[in-house]
Amino acid sequence: MKRITVAIDGYSSSGKSTMARQLAGSVGYRYIDSGAMYRAVALYALDHGMIGPEGTVDEEKLVAALPDIHIDFAPGATAGEHQHTLLNGQDVETEIRRLRVSNVVSPVAAIGAVRRALVLQQQAMGREGGIVMDGRDIGTTVFPNAELKIFVNASAETRAQRRFKEMTDGGSQVSYADVLANVVHRDHIDETREESPLRRADDALELDNSTMTPEEQDAWLMAAFKAATQED
Ligand code: CDP
Repeated sequence: MKRITVAIDGYSSSGKSTMARQLAGSVGYRYIDSGAMYRAVALYALDHGMIGPEGTVDEEKLVAALPDIHIDFAPGATAGEHQHTLLNGQDVETEIRRLRVSNVVSPVAAIGAVRRALVLQQQAMGREGGIVMDGRDIGTTVFPNAELKIFVNASAETRAQRRFKEMTDGGSQVSYADVLANVVHRDHIDETREESPLRRADDALELDNSTMTPEEQDAWLMAAFKAATQED
């Protein structure tokens, strides 16, 4: 059977990473979290003094440093464990999920040169097919010819609740209000930026999973995958 390309886009904390990871695991495809790549660049900028006190990004410095930023993924230590993001060989998986990174990632991801560099890497990873990638612009810009495109949404409150639970379960001391504010703020920047704004590709299937159980979501996803592989 042909190994297709699956593009999953959507709003922050809409559950697209979980969906993408599960699908890739079930069908034996590679999973790439493109958001982790933007987060790793944002972490690099934070740690190299490229973010001002107001959260402004020193664009010139960051763009000049792009050739020095190498991002890879290492498989999780055990089957089923998340893959780990490596920034210049260092495991930054925990660090990139913190609110300090979430608070600066969208302005960093709005820089055209950053996007172009990461999109090229993402396209190289998907050249052979057999990949599930999630993000904001996968179906519109990275893989406009993907055989299956899904656009995931849920209300901002549902998404913030999910992210809040995920972070507090992981031991982070955050307030729900701060998480909701970050989700709403990032949505706004992602939707209104000039380069590859977040939007549903015309040929993407839309999924609002606000009230779906994980089992219902899995069934929906597998049916969509089967339909996409059969058509080819
Ligand atoms: O996990 P969550 O949905 O909150 O975000 P993420 O997928 O880790 O992405 C973090 C940020 O990176 C997003 O808010 C976007 O600003 C940016 N991003 C992007 O611009 N394009 C992508 N393909 C993926 C992420």
